[in-house]
Amino acid sequence: MASGNLQKEIQSKYGEAAKQVAAGGTACCGGGAELSLCDPITRHPYDDAQKFSLPPQAVAASLGCGNPTSLAQLKPGETVLDLGSGGGIDVLLSARRVGPAGKAYGLDMTDEMLALARENQRKAGIENVEFLKGEIESIPLPENSVDVVISNCVINLSADKGRVLREAFRVLKPGGRFAVSDVVVRGEVPADVRRSVELWIGCVAGAMEESEYVSKLAAAGFADIEIEPTRVYTVAEASQFLKAKGIDAEAIATQVDGKFISAFVRAVKPANAASDWK
Ligand SMILES: C[S@@+](CC[C@H](N)C(=O)[O-])C[C@H]1O[C@@H](n2cnc3c(N)ncnc32)[C@H](O)[C@@H]1O
Repeated sequence: MASGNLQKEIQSKYGEAAKQVAAGGTACCGGGAELSLCDPITRHPYDDAQKFSLPPQAVAASLGCGNPTSLAQLKPGETVLDLGSGGGIDVLLSARRVGPAGKAYGLDMTDEMLALARENQRKAGIENVEFLKGEIESIPLPENSVDVVISNCVINLSADKGRVLREAFRVLKPGGRFAVSDVVVRGEVPADVRRSVELWIGCVAGAMEESEYVSKLAAAGFADIEIEPTRVYTVAEASQFLKAKGIDAEAIATQVDGKFISAFVRAVKPANAASDWK
């Protein structure tokens, strides 16, 4: 799919998901109105203390595949940027962690998600937050301005992942950390099977193979790269979704099981990285 069309499709799906939450529902994409076919990977990544500290709509809007705020070591006074911030859950949790001397930015391209996130911020009464409209392929922040880049199940959606990683590197300060939850593929998976499973996992997806993720991070300039699995998907979990799409889950089990993971992806911008961006 051409990148312009892909972005429009993503904006439309996530715009709908935001409207579902604003109307009192739970964010869902992939399953339409039938909640049982909704993306099941988003259900439990936050503990009760985190969930109860936020407006219910911020939790209901969660569409991530991990909890980068629990894995990233955020310190008071730091500046955090969340790529594809959706309803704002990770931005609000990060803002609390960095405290009033710090700041959390959320970046998203979908107007309905930005409106929902700003409403959630207002309800939470958290001030050290700013939601920005823009694309993660062209981050509207200056170079060397952010301590930690987080993201939750968004980079896999980009048509130009190399550019996203180069942009993350650009805005990070030297020594800054990349601390992202994302869907990653391990090993070879036939294209048609991959597409079906990705639709189940992340609405509209194009997850990178593990080694490709590492090489793209390295090409962007990152060091100390680690990919730590946080969840491994099995075809049994996707069977209802796949059946609704006319796919025999058992027939593809051996090509799927163990190959799709949610992972915590860590990397560091070296302290001596050049800062003269043109
Ligand atoms: C899977 S949801 C994740 C939202 C949020 N991170 C969470 O954990 O709930 C993806 C979000 O990323 C946004 N998004 C997807 N591609 C984007 C892009 N290229 N630039 C900016 N935002 C993007 C969508 O609008 C949507 O809000």
